[in-house]
Amino acid sequence: MSKIRLGIIGLGRLGKQHAVNIHHVIPEAELAAICSVVPEELNEMTSQMSPELVTEDYHELLAMDSLDGVIIASSSQQHCRMICDAAKAGVRNVFTEKPIGMTLDEIDEIKAAVTAAEDMRLQVGFNRRFDQSIQAAKKRLDEGYIGRPIQIRMINRDPAAMAEFIIKFSPQSGGLVLDMLTHDYDLARWMIGSDARSVYGLGGVFVYDGLKAVKDIDNCAILVEFENGVIGQFETSRNSAYGYHSEMEIYGSEGCIRVGTEPTKNRVTCLNKEGINRQCAEWFFEYWEPTFLSEIQAFVDCIREDKQPLVGLVDGYKAVQWGYAATEAVRERKVICM
Ligand code: NAI
Repeated sequence: MSKIRLGIIGLGRLGKQHAVNIHHVIPEAELAAICSVVPEELNEMTSQMSPELVTEDYHELLAMDSLDGVIIASSSQQHCRMICDAAKAGVRNVFTEKPIGMTLDEIDEIKAAVTAAEDMRLQVGFNRRFDQSIQAAKKRLDEGYIGRPIQIRMINRDPAAMAEFIIKFSPQSGGLVLDMLTHDYDLARWMIGSDARSVYGLGGVFVYDGLKAVKDIDNCAILVEFENGVIGQFETSRNSAYGYHSEMEIYGSEGCIRVGTEPTKNRVTCLNKEGINRQCAEWFFEYWEPTFLSEIQAFVDCIREDKQPLVGLVDGYKAVQWGYAATEAVRERKVICM
């Protein structure tokens, strides 16, 4: 079977990771086209890979008939028009980073464009679903290990060490809830197999006053009622003193399942006169690195085997929809029914 030919739009933090994985790690795929509006990024990738097309205009990449699929890893504000343009250009397989769109109008536009394009497959970059521990936990849950699920609790904390970057990135990211918590919501609704019925939350600026000017917050706690009755608790922070922390617990009638209780950097434990010490993960990149490969491998497998992705249009749509409801719940301090 010939290699799956991919093109990528966006070669920043995440796009570069995807490009390197496709070129160096995934044997069934090749990176035939790259696009970025940053010439240095194009030069760096071209020197490593020599793709057939190198361009600053993503329309040129979408027009390349010989591609089997396109990865959109541009900044979030670009996703909607790039997904819609890919649909119009007849691209059959699209992987997009999250969020699929930045507003409720945008996600409606994307839904219409993808649905109108016959046979278009859209995979959304909710990478955590591809984590081996999370997949093992999901299997245990589905086998009934904890009986009837009653509560799902998510913790998502960014390190204080990245504060300067986070504040700078905030205006383009859509804010704390849309940018960070939609990962947790997607994971929670996949784990328990139900959508949110209502959402309530509290949050504010506790540490980084600079976020007030861009109407963002640095800490919040959100309570969700799922349609199947499960209670969801989502806690997030941008000022974790000890590093990056992502944790999930599902509590049920017969027990509980936990993933990531100790967000360690590696498996090393050090002991000295001060006691036992393990280093924490520093940033999401190192913690989730294997999932960035697995999700692109899954995208390639879906093209090769003509199957639907684990995380698609509906999931991307529902995450943004929930992100808006949760943001409103925190801002207005009231219960929002979905
Ligand atoms: P970045 O700012 O490092 O890179 C953005 C890239 O988009 C640059 O290469 C830039 O050239 C390209 N770009 C922007 N406008 C363009 C245009 N009109 N045409 C072509 N290229 C264009 O951004 P980063 O951090 O890599 O984030 C990219 C996306 O990935 C965001 O949507 C973000 O939400 C998502 N993301 C997802 C994560 C996850 O855990 N799944 C983690 C980090 C980011």
